[in-house]
Amino acid sequence: MALENVLIEKRGRVAIVTINRPDKLNALNIATRKEILAAFEQLKGDDDVRVVVITGAGEKSFIAGADINEFAGMSAIGQRGVMKGGRAFDSVEDFPKPVIAMINGFALGGGCELAMSCDIRIASSKARLGQPEIKLGIIPGGGGTQRMARLIGEGKAMELILTGDMISAEEAKRLGLVNHVFEPDELETKTLELADRIAELSPVALAMAKASVKNASRMNLREGLDSEIDLFALCFSSEDKEEGVRAFIEKRKPEFKGK
Ligand code: COA
Repeated sequence: MALENVLIEKRGRVAIVTINRPDKLNALNIATRKEILAAFEQLKGDDDVRVVVITGAGEKSFIAGADINEFAGMSAIGQRGVMKGGRAFDSVEDFPKPVIAMINGFALGGGCELAMSCDIRIASSKARLGQPEIKLGIIPGGGGTQRMARLIGEGKAMELILTGDMISAEEAKRLGLVNHVFEPDELETKTLELADRIAELSPVALAMAKASVKNASRMNLREGLDSEIDLFALCFSSEDKEEGVRAFIEKRKPEFKGK
């Protein structure tokens, strides 16, 4: 599938996925959601890519939400079909490699939801985040109510979702909605430094670690602990585990191959 609204650029072992509709503040129309799905499908099978960074084109916006123009006149059945048909955010959450949201500006509605589907969120100090759907007479429909409550707690999520208020990057950090905040001119360097550090680690162990942490909000404690033992044990079937352990014993840097 040819991608028009989504750019993929590789920097070493890191792929940068850029949502590219800057004149619409990178609002997610149906076509762009499909392209996100296609981009992640493509990157899943690319062994050279070990970490994905997702960001928005231009200076102003990460993603300003769903494309509101497509809501006008849309039926309930039609919108349900859009949301159930191409679950782009779920594909990011389930992606077997770490995904970092580099939040360069507005992360509103679907933009905040996409960021919350990522594993780590790094924001520019000028970013603004929020779930303003309530102001349109609707609610978040791309995981916002579920992922935000899990990420920052029900009370704080409830206030943001019921008011539709936009918050600053610093406030988002205080709430635990983003991990780090950097000045705009440092954002890319700092994000790529983190991505590169993670990209040196074992892809097998990263996939297991991501799956296991995700299980914390998908399973009860007993199921999660049992599953963690299985995923931990599964690492012992990888060459990477042997390499990591030997490198430690031999006092050298490990060379992980993802096998
Ligand atoms: N859907 C469609 N178009 C959008 C959009 C969205 N979610 N967000 C921004 N745009 C478009 C604007 O319509 C405008 O297009 P135009 O130049 O053709 O008129 C362009 O992007 C620039 O946006 P503008 O509103 O002029 O910028 P601003 O700096 O004044 O305001 C925001 C920025 C983010 C505060 C404002 O655009 C906004 O509130 N967007 C909607 C956010 C939202 O409710 N998202 C959740 C949707 S469910």
